[in-house]
Amino acid sequence: MCKEGSQPGLISASAPGKVILFGEHAVVYGRPAIAAPVSQSRATATIHSSKETLLIAPDLGIKRPLSQTSLDDPLAAVIHHFQRAADLPTLPPFTLTVSSQLPIASGLGSGAAISAAIIRALADFCAVTELATDEWVSALTYEVEKLHHGTPSGIDNTVVVYEKPIYFVKGEPIETFTVKRPLHLLIADSGISSKTVDVVMDVRRRWERETAVFNRLFDQCGTIAHSARTAIGTGDLLEIGRLMTENHHLLQKMSVSAPILDRLVGAAMDAGAMGAKLSGAGRGGNVIVLVDEGRETAVVQALLANSAKTIMSSNIL
Ligand code: MEV
Repeated sequence: MCKEGSQPGLISASAPGKVILFGEHAVVYGRPAIAAPVSQSRATATIHSSKETLLIAPDLGIKRPLSQTSLDDPLAAVIHHFQRAADLPTLPPFTLTVSSQLPIASGLGSGAAISAAIIRALADFCAVTELATDEWVSALTYEVEKLHHGTPSGIDNTVVVYEKPIYFVKGEPIETFTVKRPLHLLIADSGISSKTVDVVMDVRRRWERETAVFNRLFDQCGTIAHSARTAIGTGDLLEIGRLMTENHHLLQKMSVSAPILDRLVGAAMDAGAMGAKLSGAGRGGNVIVLVDEGRETAVVQALLANSAKTIMSSNIL
């Protein structure tokens, strides 16, 4: 039984953004990758009972009744998936408001975070929180990701739902791990949006044309992710940084970088960063930079001088 008429109480749930530290794209092809949540930047879903079901997402310019949504409406898709998975024949009317501090199509996992937040809020509203384990929410978020991304590896939904650094191999049990020394990251937005689905599909086309070349690149990314895990475990920041930059060069060879991303990575390194790479699908979005606090100001200045639109810092613990 959903919490019908539970006004004035608002139900609210949130999920963080994420960065891929190592192994994006290769992870779609079964190689290991490492991702971490960005807990201070979140998507939030708020629900309250209302006369008809209304979807509001000011950041996306959405305000419409559920009854008027098209089949491919991203918010409606989450609701329909939730209803089916929770086996609820009907949902009482509600207003769902979604807000996000995460830029869209920028590699920070805003889609997965929005879906996970909505699923958790709906589970609470419908009093089925016993269903909504991390495993269930992650699996459902993955189903929604498939609608938008085609062949997601599952890393985005996993990291935003479990909200821990993860070593991820598609189809294998989730491995969380401890970070020996915090990674101080700068996350610099190129301001160029890029749809994950387009880049993932383009990589697939190239992989089909040049399978041996791409398999080798994916293998090298996998080896880097494996070594990075050891370096994170021993707190070897210089080695982590070196591996990040090496991973960026492999992503360039996969053709998923962009001139602005290469410029930001180069500028950060010239200003004294320990390592830098694009993060997420690429062709736009964000670069992540590993920096020690003594070099932070110089690196921030270099990123801004090279057209970074916004920079946030995050400690991976
Ligand atoms: C997107 O955050 C990461 C990619 O590897 C796609 C995926 O793993 O589903 C590019």
